[in-house]
Amino acid sequence: MEGMVAKWYATNTGKALGEFSKLARRIAGELPPGSSILEVAPGPGYFCMQLAKIGGYAITGLDISHTFVEIARHKAAEAGVAVDFRQGNASSMPFAEDMFDFLLCRAAFKNFGQPVRALQEMCRVLKPGGRGLIIDLKRDASMESINREVDGMGLDGLNRIFTKLTFRFFLIKTAYTRRQFEYMLAQTKFSRVDIREEGIGFEISVTK
Ligand SMILES: C[S@@+](CC[C@H](N)C(=O)[O-])C[C@H]1O[C@@H](n2cnc3c(N)ncnc32)[C@H](O)[C@@H]1O
Repeated sequence: MEGMVAKWYATNTGKALGEFSKLARRIAGELPPGSSILEVAPGPGYFCMQLAKIGGYAITGLDISHTFVEIARHKAAEAGVAVDFRQGNASSMPFAEDMFDFLLCRAAFKNFGQPVRALQEMCRVLKPGGRGLIIDLKRDASMESINREVDGMGLDGLNRIFTKLTFRFFLIKTAYTRRQFEYMLAQTKFSRVDIREEGIGFEISVTK
């Protein structure tokens, strides 16, 4: 079952490669070559791969799902890009402290079983002055705005309906409010936190 869901997600999000490529270009514009970058919970790994295509970075992805790690490794090999995809838990990362200049966590934070631990781990593995970006759905996103967002994903009829239902009955129920994020972030040692609302979600920028 997990494998089927992972494959469906990989195929579906693979149709939105433009979005991952745009995000990779944006992040690359903010980071000097040679930076070490971590994606927490990369799933099929599209962001990492788009960033690797730009070149010049040491990129690592850490995902709890063995199936997603396998899919991501396979796709990276096919694309001929170097990304170190590892299996592990965001709440207990297999990395030493002060390792990464930047980290991204996109569309995954709401899935974490121990979200505060995950934030604390993000802080631990970032270098002093290093930055993290968490992009996730907000709890109070309206159904109209979610429907608009899904309509823009380029999905075919059935997939579009299924994705809308997934947002409505699952994803939105696990998403956090701004207050909940503030409460969780207050339990970390980040020196700066900036929570911005973007469309149906938040972009949370944290600095160690
Ligand atoms: C919806 S996918 C998002 C994938 C990718 N970030 C993207 O933008 O398409 C959520 C991912 O979170 C991963 N995940 C859930 N809990 C995790 C945890 N505790 N540690 C690491 N990864 C986790 C899942 O295996 C899955 O790959």
